[in-house]
Amino acid sequence: MTENQDLTISDNFTETSDVVIYHGMAIDFVKSIPEKSIDLIVASPPYNTGKEYEENVSISEYVREQEEIIPLMCKIMKETGSICWQVGNYVSHGEVFPLDIFYYKMFKDQGMYLRNRIVWRFGHGLHTTNRFSGRYETILWFSKSDEYIFNLDPVRVPAKYPGKKHSKGPQRGQISGNPKGKNPSDYWEIEKRNWISEWEDGIWEIPNVKAHHIEKTIHPCQFPVELVERCVLALTDENGRVLDPYMGVGSTLLAAILHNRKALGSEKEMQYVEIAKERIVQLARGELRTRPLGKPIYEPSTENVAKIPDEWIKDASSIYYQDKE
Ligand SMILES: C[S@@+](CC[C@H](N)C(=O)[O-])C[C@H]1O[C@@H](n2cnc3c(N)ncnc32)[C@H](O)[C@@H]1O
Repeated sequence: MTENQDLTISDNFTETSDVVIYHGMAIDFVKSIPEKSIDLIVASPPYNTGKEYEENVSISEYVREQEEIIPLMCKIMKETGSICWQVGNYVSHGEVFPLDIFYYKMFKDQGMYLRNRIVWRFGHGLHTTNRFSGRYETILWFSKSDEYIFNLDPVRVPAKYPGKKHSKGPQRGQISGNPKGKNPSDYWEIEKRNWISEWEDGIWEIPNVKAHHIEKTIHPCQFPVELVERCVLALTDENGRVLDPYMGVGSTLLAAILHNRKALGSEKEMQYVEIAKERIVQLARGELRTRPLGKPIYEPSTENVAKIPDEWIKDASSIYYQDKE
């Protein structure tokens, strides 16, 4: 998009709007969208974890509610369209229910085809005490048919060994990689760039949006915009329509607008709708700060917080850190 771009924003679906923001229940909005009109749905549905905007119900009740909306979403997708459904775990009395297992069946029942189960790893989150701390969630990418859009070039990442050559066969001695970069894989990290000269061989993850992230709003679990940008760039063409039925503060819509796609979203909480609208206006004015796709993660190696506290080194119960002195 260009700075100070005029966007037409409406409250209900219209064929021509650049942006549609519906305040209300996702199911009502999805019902108002014509069949076969959406290119990509990207969403992180409510997880049933008792966040301030959701009720904590049993896993079977949760699945029943989602079974109602999923067939409707599949209907409004174009034949070339895709769905990226991002979920983590529902935890009840310490037992873990990986939600993608439940969603896989729901989408398969609609005749959808799983193309990737993407693992999104991030560095921060709650520290658990009775099991290992969770540090990844998954994105199920389903297409509606075999004729789906997949643009690899805009999302390629630099190869670790760009000078690698074929060691046998007719191409022996020739460079084996692609000068545009390599496929980013289904484990979502992006190559770390040494901004001075060349690509490093390290990796970095897309950080989740926690307190110090430049995109942070009052929403407790918003998408990093760059995560959605990758889906938008790979799975739609320019002017395609991207929908997030559980849009929160509109991160999916921002990623779509950034890359000249039409953006649609619904959200039941008015406070998030207002923030989403404000972020879109800021983006159109060129005033919104988002973490750019491909920026390396901050490594606090020289900061005080990264140093081992003196107390731990001296403390006899610190079995790990004593060795590090
Ligand atoms: C996991 S959050 C998604 C956050 C979003 N990806 C973002 O970047 O801000 C789920 C959102 O869905 C909303 N929500 C939950 N149930 C809904 C429903 N039935 N209809 C519309 N919105 C709903 C919640 O208020 C919440 O903001």
